[in-house]
Amino acid sequence: MKRVAILISGGGSNMVALANSMTGDHAARPVLVVSNDAAAVGLAKARDLSIATDVVDHREFGKDRAAFEDVLATKLEDAQPDIICLAGFMRILTEGFTARYEGRMLNIHPSLLPKYKGLHTHQRALDAGDDVHGCSVHEVTSALDDGPILGQARIAVTAQDTADILAARLLPFEHALYVAVLRRYAAGDRRMVHLPFDPVGL
Ligand code: GAR
Repeated sequence: MKRVAILISGGGSNMVALANSMTGDHAARPVLVVSNDAAAVGLAKARDLSIATDVVDHREFGKDRAAFEDVLATKLEDAQPDIICLAGFMRILTEGFTARYEGRMLNIHPSLLPKYKGLHTHQRALDAGDDVHGCSVHEVTSALDDGPILGQARIAVTAQDTADILAARLLPFEHALYVAVLRRYAAGDRRMVHLPFDPVGL
């Protein structure tokens, strides 16, 4: 059985979707949820699912990202994860950390990469007049929101969409995509996952 650690910073809805999916014939199980923020709502959700949790508060390390990551890596090593899932983990990682976990760390990003790396993806899609938006799951490499794409889901942008509405509409597709990618990835299958296009609003 593969061991999965999940890193979060906030609500943890992707973490919950991943954790709930890891049952039955799934090749993996969740072993640890870590947040960089003790106030992250997702920590209580992980505890409710009987998953071990931990916190490494990045603010205690000031600008020293490597020192923060050293402590984070220590926590991860204790849990012996085979796969690390970034699920709304809002810290930029150094090359030292990404290199350490290359080939076994996944991230979900709320855009159709390579479009809109970084923040404010929904607003940027609206500002660009995109009629299709979506999310991507990719392997984490040293470059931000880069690395081999393992799956994407697409939704139509509607005239009513604001950044907040678009984010909320996309979230269930993130869950479905991340669950589908992790299931394949844990079983050693790196083929792309394409979810059926959601045509609502077109
Ligand atoms: C999700 O929309 C995820 O794609 C995004 O943060 C949200 C976390 O929600 N991630 C990023 O923007 C990463 N740069 P969740 O905590 O409910 O899963």
